[in-house]
Amino acid sequence: MAEFVRVSALSDIPPGAGKCVEVNGKPIALFNIDGMVFAIDNECLHRQGPLAEGELEGHVVTCPWHGWQYDVRTGENVFDRALRLETYEVVVEDGEVKVVL
Ligand code: FES
Repeated sequence: MAEFVRVSALSDIPPGAGKCVEVNGKPIALFNIDGMVFAIDNECLHRQGPLAEGELEGHVVTCPWHGWQYDVRTGENVFDRALRLETYEVVVEDGEVKVVL
């Protein structure tokens, strides 16, 4: 059965920005795009760069270390779609962001 884990207040994730949270010991990157929140693994598939600290343009985040880019909606690497980060379902209720595990 799905478990909803509260991870952040929506107000702590400004639109166009990311935030890293830890769920069950796993770092997850949250991104707020016009009030919709997307969740992907925080660790880049190249060398584990912190994606929540990357620049977000539209739906694409750029890894701050060497520039790999991912679509935060699907977790797909923009340059090689065979590379894909785990994505997580997100629910926003009453200003609270919850990740579904
Ligand atoms: S660690 Fe992300 S591009 Fe190298």
